[in-house]
Amino acid sequence: MSGQEVPVALRAESDILVANAGKLRPLGTPFAANDPVGWWDVVEVNLRGVYNFVHFSIPELQKSKGQIVITSSAGAHLRIATGSDYSVSKFALGRFAEFVALEYPDIKVFTVHPGIVATAMNAEAGVPIPAEDAVALPAATMLYLTSGKADYLSGRVYPTVDPKVHYTSQTYKGKVVLITGASRGIGLETALQYARSGASLSLASRKQETLDDSKNAILKEVPNAQVLTSVADVKNVEKAEAAVKATIAHFGKLDILVANAGKVRPMDKPFAAKDPVGWWDILEVNIRGVYNFVHFAIPELQKTKGQVAIISSAAAQWRLPTASEYCVSKFALGRFAEFVTLEYPDIKVYTIHPGVVATAMNIESGAPPAEDAVALSAATVLYLTSGKADYLSGRYVSATWDLGEVERDWKEKIIQQNGLVNKLSIPN
Ligand SMILES: NC(=O)c1ccc[n+]([C@@H]2O[C@H](COP(=O)([O-])OP(=O)(O)OC[C@H]3O[C@@H](n4cnc5c(N)ncnc54)[C@H](OP(=O)(O)O)[C@@H]3O)[C@@H](O)[C@H]2O)c1
Repeated sequence: MSGQEVPVALRAESDILVANAGKLRPLGTPFAANDPVGWWDVVEVNLRGVYNFVHFSIPELQKSKGQIVITSSAGAHLRIATGSDYSVSKFALGRFAEFVALEYPDIKVFTVHPGIVATAMNAEAGVPIPAEDAVALPAATMLYLTSGKADYLSGRVYPTVDPKVHYTSQTYKGKVVLITGASRGIGLETALQYARSGASLSLASRKQETLDDSKNAILKEVPNAQVLTSVADVKNVEKAEAAVKATIAHFGKLDILVANAGKVRPMDKPFAAKDPVGWWDILEVNIRGVYNFVHFAIPELQKTKGQVAIISSAAAQWRLPTASEYCVSKFALGRFAEFVTLEYPDIKVYTIHPGVVATAMNIESGAPPAEDAVALSAATVLYLTSGKADYLSGRYVSATWDLGEVERDWKEKIIQQNGLVNKLSIPN
């Protein structure tokens, strides 16, 4: 399919593109024993064919804040011997979809494995897996995905955590929220969402200038917002104490602490090849920085039966080579949160993976592609501190989960088995 052949028949009001056309050659022959032109043809149909239609749909889908469903395959994640052309092309579609989400954040995009269905393609290729799935299932899945019910799968705010309800009902009116690392990124977006929901804000980070920028950005949107700023390096005990004291002196109480400030180093070398002082500095910002603020907030949070949102990371659960300092620090935060609930049972605390978000820190670290909207990270924090998910207190929560589904299908098991906490794995 050449660029010139693409039929551009999209109307201005196009909402959804289903890029479904695809090709599979008969399996059974290793690639070098098969026709090389045929190998490329499969890649061209499956990858270029999708690209072509997505390319020309983008301007229209931007207007309609539309959606793209790409029919991929479980073959994207399997290594099916003799099906390299198919697997490689479907694998590449997943990464392409990530670029759609990154470069056009208003458009939702899903890559969908349709199941194993007895279609002409499936029969001709001799797929060695029984075709057990009804053709109605992939179609129903596509309708479900594009209905807006599963936007979290596209890294966007989804109905369960949608903060608009807090804006209209002013959920946080009369509440005082202290946020560290509020000068940009996830901390700033969280401050904005709380301000829109009626909260008074106390913001802390290391430079008055950037704190002023944050305050101005908030006042521009919410002119009557109450915003206090404190210059504090979270590593510094006295500065943490001063920031909490200033909050109490100004607002008289504290309801919510969002311990968000964090640091990462480029994930480029094994730890012994990197500066050892820098290794410890990450632990100091990420663990001691959280500890310092929680320590001084505790007496105030006990009075208000308040809450702590600790911004952790999925790295807490991963073993990322070249990122031991970051992974170890975020892992430790999970255990620390358990101690908060044990020693101060009146206070609710959550360790939260905010998603992978294109912030200054994310770009600097060379982390995986940022797929998630910063609004999703903040919306998840507001949802958790709204009292709707107290059963998750003391536990690890990810902004990339559908928390409605977690409550519906997992809540009982999480409580019964004390799930979502760090445990030692014992072989059985
Ligand atoms: N972005 C992601 O993909 C991602 C994924 C998982 C977890 N996280 C976590 O999300 C949190 C927020 O990060 P972000 O992505 O929003 O990064 P960011 O845009 O770079 O913001 C980091 C914030 O932390 C502040 N900060 C850094 N060191 C500090 C220190 N020593 N004392 C006080 N404030 C300090 C920065 O302010 P100043 O420099 O002005 O002090 C800034 O406000 C972090 O805990 C991070 O580990 C992010």
